[in-house]
Amino acid sequence: MDLGITGKIALVNGGSAGLGRGAALALAKEKTELFITARGEERLHKTCEELVRETGANITPIVADHSSDEGRETVLSICPNPDILVATCSPPPFSGDFRTVGRAEWEEALSLTLLSPVEFIKSVIDGMVERKWGRIVNIATGAAKYPAAMRVLSGPPRAALVNYTVAVAKQVAKHGVTINNILPGMHHTDGIRGMFDGQA
Ligand SMILES: NC(=O)c1ccc[n+]([C@@H]2O[C@H](COP(=O)([O-])OP(=O)(O)OC[C@H]3O[C@@H](n4cnc5c(N)ncnc54)[C@H](OP(=O)(O)O)[C@@H]3O)[C@@H](O)[C@H]2O)c1
Repeated sequence: MDLGITGKIALVNGGSAGLGRGAALALAKEKTELFITARGEERLHKTCEELVRETGANITPIVADHSSDEGRETVLSICPNPDILVATCSPPPFSGDFRTVGRAEWEEALSLTLLSPVEFIKSVIDGMVERKWGRIVNIATGAAKYPAAMRVLSGPPRAALVNYTVAVAKQVAKHGVTINNILPGMHHTDGIRGMFDGQA
């Protein structure tokens, strides 16, 4: 399929596995100029090699934690002006009784699933507006729309992200820039396997 995005600069934050890898594969097949981030170097390099072999795309791996200021600086120093931004991460942990969820866990979940995409959007959106074209996709969660007690660290921050991105999208749509959130249900990914293996 030709989506008309050949040669666009695409950044997938969290693209060495799972749904992010799927997004990266689709963007590689379209021959975008692709940058993929993840924290784990070994899996990231293996994924990039596999995607290059499969698609022939030009792919740059970036080892960085996109939930930290330093990580975001590293990513943006290598890929400052993406036309396409996909934001994803590993699913936040299942919470037990909501009373036991402490401040540190909240701060970690908020940094990863809300503040990271918010900071990236702020950093890249002016360039997209100037170029009159941009696509931002956050891979969030169905729990944003269908609250579940064991997903309180995942659903509420993404409900906030959806609210924020709709507000921003209304401002930038007239410049050819769109922001969308995907709210997936269950998919068999490395992240989910890790969580359920533990429970099993
Ligand atoms: N899979 C499902 O059933 C499901 C259901 C609902 C919602 N979701 C949502 O969909 C998204 C993707 O889930 P998934 O199952 O595909 O996850 P996954 O299989 O764990 O893959 C996550 C990817 O993001 C990278 N990553 C995680 N934290 C990062 C960080 N701080 N900085 C940079 N890269 C990071 C991981 O690599 P490193 O670990 O090496 O950094 C990996 O490449 C999440 O937002 C999740 O909440 C998934």
